[in-house]
Amino acid sequence: MPLPIHCDLPQRTDDLNRLVAQWGFVPVKQLPKEGLMLWLDAERLSLRDAGDKKQGAVSVDFAGGGSRHRRLHGGGRGEAVAKAVGARGQSTPTVLDATAGLGRDAFVLASIGCHVTMLERSPVAAALLQDGLNRAVMDSEIGDWISDRMTLIPGASSDLMSDWSGERPEVVYLDPMYPHRKKSAQVKKEMRLFQQLLGPDQDADALLAPALALATKRVVVKRPDYAPPLADKPSDAQIKTKTHRFDIYFC
Ligand SMILES: C[S@@+](CC[C@H](N)C(=O)[O-])C[C@H]1O[C@@H](n2cnc3c(N)ncnc32)[C@H](O)[C@@H]1O
Repeated sequence: MPLPIHCDLPQRTDDLNRLVAQWGFVPVKQLPKEGLMLWLDAERLSLRDAGDKKQGAVSVDFAGGGSRHRRLHGGGRGEAVAKAVGARGQSTPTVLDATAGLGRDAFVLASIGCHVTMLERSPVAAALLQDGLNRAVMDSEIGDWISDRMTLIPGASSDLMSDWSGERPEVVYLDPMYPHRKKSAQVKKEMRLFQQLLGPDQDADALLAPALALATKRVVVKRPDYAPPLADKPSDAQIKTKTHRFDIYFC
């Protein structure tokens, strides 16, 4: 079901029309009383639960908030995801992130120098991500490299990877949605809203074979620590964090 989108700012009518035309969202003048909805305000596009104001809004903000903090004070190349894709010294592999979501992992990799192509099949996630990218290119700190290193292609990865005609990526990165076991504080608004919107990616196992056929160096799969390996295929190596592990398959 296409989500309703609300915008009451005349100066953003063109942007609203573009979003409606590109993604098929349904423009609404009145705020819905319940259910998931998109809101376009003066600054950004966000996803909200109209019936649960406490839940807050989800949007993509690469230039500020958690992404900025992580870029300036996180581990950079020391981050587990960077080690998992094999970023080392001056080596920054090209990465195809075939389950881009809100682009947080892709941004970490791009901020250390990787060129990341992001695939995303959910129109809502892709629209939020594109909105975040559009604002990031205008930012004085990160704008000069965002458009060079981060590219979004909307669509289903299994088809896009099987029909790939461009240069093959060195790494394919997969982080499909997996059901959460615990209601931890960490599984906060973003993941809860996303679970509500998308549910688990039941077909995720089917991504491993095309990923292994496409990557030239390795495939990396991010899994919760309690989840079995994707497609039940044992990995060649693993990197573990407190809550996750990165299963690595060498090509
Ligand atoms: C857990 S989220 C990814 C989070 C992301 N790694 C991040 O850092 O923000 C999984 C995303 O993958 C997308 N996805 C799952 N299977 C897909 C497929 N076959 N093709 C394209 N996107 C897919 C889902 O729509 C969802 O947005």
